[in-house]
Amino acid sequence: MDTIHVTADTAALRNRAAQLVDEGRMDAARPLLAAAQALAPPSPDLALIGARLAAGEGALDQAMQTLDSGIAAAPSHVGLRKCRADIRHRMGDLEGAARDAAEAVIVDPADPQAKALLGAAMLDLGRTAEAVACLEEAVAGTPTEIGYREALSAALEKAGDPSSALRVLTDGIAVCPASVPVRNAAILLCVRRRDFIQAVRLAEQARSLGIADACTFGMKGHALSSLGRHDEAAIAYREALKLGPEDPYVRHLVVSSGAMPDSKRAPEGYIRTVFDGYADRFDAHLISLGYSIPGAIRSVLQAHPKIVAGLSIGPVLDLGCGTGMVALAIGDLPLGPFTGVDLSPRMLTQARAKGLYAELREGDIIADLAMDQQRWPLIVAADVLCYFGALEEIFAGIHQRLEPGGWFIFSVEKILPDHDGVIPGNGNWALQRQGRYAHAEHYIYEAVCAAGFRILRLDRPVIRQEAGAGVPGLLLAIERIHHDG
Ligand SMILES: C[S@@+](CC[C@H](N)C(=O)[O-])C[C@H]1O[C@@H](n2cnc3c(N)ncnc32)[C@H](O)[C@@H]1O
Repeated sequence: MDTIHVTADTAALRNRAAQLVDEGRMDAARPLLAAAQALAPPSPDLALIGARLAAGEGALDQAMQTLDSGIAAAPSHVGLRKCRADIRHRMGDLEGAARDAAEAVIVDPADPQAKALLGAAMLDLGRTAEAVACLEEAVAGTPTEIGYREALSAALEKAGDPSSALRVLTDGIAVCPASVPVRNAAILLCVRRRDFIQAVRLAEQARSLGIADACTFGMKGHALSSLGRHDEAAIAYREALKLGPEDPYVRHLVVSSGAMPDSKRAPEGYIRTVFDGYADRFDAHLISLGYSIPGAIRSVLQAHPKIVAGLSIGPVLDLGCGTGMVALAIGDLPLGPFTGVDLSPRMLTQARAKGLYAELREGDIIADLAMDQQRWPLIVAADVLCYFGALEEIFAGIHQRLEPGGWFIFSVEKILPDHDGVIPGNGNWALQRQGRYAHAEHYIYEAVCAAGFRILRLDRPVIRQEAGAGVPGLLLAIERIHHDG
């Protein structure tokens, strides 16, 4: 009798602990799991709950230990295999994740989650066709699981089939009309493909069904602003802000909308807010996105005649120096001292900590150029002019401050045509996603020539990765040719 009573309690404790883990209530789950473990011998089910609990608390190593011993005792346990596949994937062990997921698929070929895990591992291993096949089966097995659809959509997009990628999501809307995530995933995909008309259509469809979500409105505003429909965008942004006043994504979009529609530059307050909030993780984030401009500037400078001749270029003015990544990339070349200018005090604090600048000035680059009395042999501006639409004033200011023959090296983001081939903005520049401007190559060419520069070199680098795609840019080295004082 006693034994039956204990067994029943153990099952109840275990089930409740598993339920709490599902709900993300790890603190509440832990004592129940401990009690269940005290009452019953080790089992694959208890190991699985323990591993999921540890993973939920961020202790991935501990979760792996529990899974390793659980799988050693029960190698064909599908739950343990799936859990280890997931954690191995999160820890970057893609081959291991694929092995575990494949084992789970072999043991239970009807398990859609196992196929989804295998598909996700294949996708990150670059085995896109296999990923698509696995994820298609996962979606067929559980058509209402939106996560599988999002993964399949990503795989199809990577396979070069964006239409099918969108169809998987719009089918998901038909199957789960109340799911906000699938609607937002579809809208985001349209925005990424620069199909802003379809993005607006999907957002309006959600609205007409009574779905009111900050993110949906934020993306609608974004799509509308990209279509030049700035008044409507402002309304969408206001709705977004009402629904998600604390949502950082929404705030970012709304604040950036302050730079619209005809503003020729991003407002100073916006720049300060964004970069002050970003400064602590800026370097790590940009490195993870493959930010290429500091390295590209270094390559350009290695061909500078003075450097080739073993001479020093002299003082360098770094406009929008941020945390000092450019000084870090070129600081060992024969040039300097460095002076940095930036609007964001916190970015400047990070730059100061690198100890590479002789002087750091807080302020707007146009104002700084106007006040500066010095003539520079080299001015750089990496990933900064994207906060300005019209560039004439900056080019004029730089022309003033360069020595004759002095070099200005800068990057801009390149305008991309929309989905339907239309060039956004005014043809010269356009306000893009995230409040940055992109520029047309012909405009840059004409503006620098009109300001009295000669183009020495024009490269077309990928600036960094964003939302899974490279951001195309222009990197120019130009020389001051006028000798007019
Ligand atoms: C994307 S970060 C690039 C930082 C750095 N040049 C680099 O390549 O790592 C842009 C920087 O430009 C600064 N910035 C943007 N607009 C500015 C302006 N009008 N005046 C001064 N700094 C500005 C921002 O505060 C930020 O630190």
